[in-house]
Amino acid sequence: MCGIIGYTGKKNAEEVLLKGLSRLEYRGYDSAGVAVLKAGELHVRKKQGKLSVLAEDLKRAPLAGNTGIGHTRWATHGVPNDINAHPHVDHKRHIAVVHNGIIENYQQLKEKLQKAGYAFSSDTDSEVIAHLISEQYKGDLRAAVRTALKQVKGSFAIAVVHRGEPGRVIGARKDSPLIVGLGEEENFIASDIPAVLEYTRKVIYLENGEIVDLSGDTCVICGPKGKKIRKRPVEIKWDISQAEKKGYRHFMLKEIFEQPEVLRNIFKERIKGGRVEFEELAIRDTQIRKIKRIAIVACGTAYHAGLTGKYMIEKYAKVPVWVDNSSEFRYREPLVGRDTLVIVISQSGETADTLAALREAKDRGARVLAICNVLGSSIARESDGVIYTHAGPEIAVASTKAYTAQLAILYLFTYYLASVRKVAMTDGRSFLRRLKRLPSLAERMLAQYHSRKNILARYAAEFHEYYLARNNKSCFLYLGRNINYPNALEGALKLKEISYISAEGYPAGEMKHGPIALIDENPWVVCIAVQADTYEKMLSNIQEIKARGGIVIAVVSAGDKTLRDSKMNYLIEVPRAPEAFSPVLVAIPLQLLAYHVAAEFGYDIDQPRNLAKSVTVE
Ligand code: G6P
Repeated sequence: MCGIIGYTGKKNAEEVLLKGLSRLEYRGYDSAGVAVLKAGELHVRKKQGKLSVLAEDLKRAPLAGNTGIGHTRWATHGVPNDINAHPHVDHKRHIAVVHNGIIENYQQLKEKLQKAGYAFSSDTDSEVIAHLISEQYKGDLRAAVRTALKQVKGSFAIAVVHRGEPGRVIGARKDSPLIVGLGEEENFIASDIPAVLEYTRKVIYLENGEIVDLSGDTCVICGPKGKKIRKRPVEIKWDISQAEKKGYRHFMLKEIFEQPEVLRNIFKERIKGGRVEFEELAIRDTQIRKIKRIAIVACGTAYHAGLTGKYMIEKYAKVPVWVDNSSEFRYREPLVGRDTLVIVISQSGETADTLAALREAKDRGARVLAICNVLGSSIARESDGVIYTHAGPEIAVASTKAYTAQLAILYLFTYYLASVRKVAMTDGRSFLRRLKRLPSLAERMLAQYHSRKNILARYAAEFHEYYLARNNKSCFLYLGRNINYPNALEGALKLKEISYISAEGYPAGEMKHGPIALIDENPWVVCIAVQADTYEKMLSNIQEIKARGGIVIAVVSAGDKTLRDSKMNYLIEVPRAPEAFSPVLVAIPLQLLAYHVAAEFGYDIDQPRNLAKSVTVE
């Protein structure tokens, strides 16, 4: 939520800031702004709307200067408008600040500052930071930032400039991410690596309480007590081209089509000589053997991956598992201790609730293992062990390839767990062999969806027509059972995230306890009825829906004759695979269905309203 960037060097700051912000727009996109220093003056430009609105404005009237800060916003306090957009300035307009996070005591601070004569212009919590720094400023920006932040409660990553200190950018963080990029005669700070990757691969991850003081050729980092510390930069290996659309209309579509490759890489990297290896795990086998139970904690799509993990781990590795939303886990005194392994799953590795849940679990003595996509993210760093999904940057807000990568890791971890704990798996021998077939199965399935006129695009177009003909009255219900129940939740989540159509996911067995009341000719019901132990039960559910006039989209295994012959309204075929592995194959057409529905409605698929990729506030 919110992306920030700071630059100092010899380049035109405005250009660097805009480019960097375009790589951070996934974090928020309701308004954007920059502040640039030039010849003892501070120039601020900010605009409601997407970054393109600001870029247009700057094109008309550019801001020259080689030092500056920028922000792309996801509103928490104060509606999205020009005034609430960042950067915020102090009353003298000497200091400009961009902020990601939430200042929890901003009301008290604001009242105190107002009493002292500071006039506020926005409704944001962030503006207090500018005034606090101004109050503390005695000629040294770093010192002022340090003292000002002592009064602040909550989370922040900030970048600050002062018009009297040209070429200097100060950054600081607590519970919101901030990285430093080290260049040649130029330096950067940013919320995330893609913002600086075009200019440098040398990156330092800042920790909570640290402050960085940058000029074009110096980078000083101070610890929480103000003492200078040395931190070694890491070399970023991946390429910025991975964060480009590569000819696809949307990042989401590109990321859906990348899934076979992502899965293939995961299996290639982790399966060695018929064994599963996790180099970065850092949790010893003896500790894994002592585990009595597992808690999986995550948000959104990652939570759905966790639910699938429960089915897998309990079935094959025979360890009891429960799954929690991070926001529930952290506040409900969970019964975890030394004999519990807590697995936190997070694409970004920065989700505030998951990070807090991780800390809660550690405080209670549990071992924490993270399944993460973003290297060096807060969650990855704070966990005892980490398994990276290495899915590459995921830019679209709606998560796709990160989800199937999380599933793949959970399969491998299940196998690993069973091996270490010497649990005999029923289909142990063929497990890895069959798992390794998934990438080519997914690839073959995706090949039929390459054309713009594919069958899912047609279903989406028909739904759109149907919806309009019924005065916008239709909705979606997703039903699944057993290991594909989480996919019902995930399919519904994808659809509502990007098409704003109301969609609910349900375990099919629960249909009679409520959702069946919704069935008439209005909702479209996606029934996941692939080859499975519960296949017949799904058939009965489908009959019950059809008997009440419902419209069914049946997701079936290739070659399913029963459903093909029984006049389903719509069929989606997925390749045949063992039930345990089917969730990966089922997930993909559901992602595409959501994509095509959103495309029919003409919505902004990569940046849906009100959402953000990385939820770094509670
Ligand atoms: C946001 C994103 C979702 C994501 C969830 C958890 O809501 O829009 O796509 O699943 O956060 O994010 P994480 O980075 O922790 O997986």
